[in-house]
Amino acid sequence: MKKMIVGNWKMNKTTAEAMVFVKRLKKVKSKADIVMCPAFTALYAVSKLLGKSKIKLGAQNMFYEEKGPYTGEVSPKMLGVDYVILGHSERREYFNETNEEINKKVKAALKNKIKPILCVGESLKQRKAKKAKQVVGNQLKKCLKEVKKNEFSRIIIAYEPIWAIGTGKTATAEQAQEMHSFIRSVVSKIIGVKSSKKLKILYGGSVNPKNIKSIFEMKDIDGALIGGASLKLTSFARMIHLCS
Ligand code: PGA
Repeated sequence: MKKMIVGNWKMNKTTAEAMVFVKRLKKVKSKADIVMCPAFTALYAVSKLLGKSKIKLGAQNMFYEEKGPYTGEVSPKMLGVDYVILGHSERREYFNETNEEINKKVKAALKNKIKPILCVGESLKQRKAKKAKQVVGNQLKKCLKEVKKNEFSRIIIAYEPIWAIGTGKTATAEQAQEMHSFIRSVVSKIIGVKSSKKLKILYGGSVNPKNIKSIFEMKDIDGALIGGASLKLTSFARMIHLCS
């Protein structure tokens, strides 16, 4: 399967900064599928810059309603993107997003032809209590509730152990592989083993040019969701080269 590299810029880069980066990124040769996720404010300008480029555009969040009195929210129809990151642990933690809300967002994204990148992952406390799989299994079950079998081909799952995000601590390639294989087995119970093999499962959490190769060697790891190391073009381009 072709690897996928998603850059999650979080709350970084003005529109002008995003444009400078993307202009340079377009010149980087890639064998992987690249998705850039700037802030809402930069989406339109970046989409114009990307034009027919192979690089795809993603948002970092959205609301599930299509329009109406929801001050400050952004609807799927307003985004103009191919992908949307949903249920990131920072949204769950700082903005109290629940699995139920994330499930509504996943369904709204699919309805609006946007591919959800659904984030799941356990905290350090949960891992230490040996509850990591239980937590991730529960997140998958709740966030994917009522998603139709034929829609799974448009879903991407990102496993992001909370303790590895922005901390410099990565899960070992083996720890990540174990969880990825678990995620695939959970999904295979819904859509069957054959279709589950096509599911893209990304790893996220302190991925950088030094560790990406060993992470990508794992069988069930189909790509990476990259925060910090996606902010500088040199390190982002390096990771793209390393997976070619
Ligand atoms: P990080 O973030 O690469 O900075 O750890 C990953 C993410 O939160 O998506």
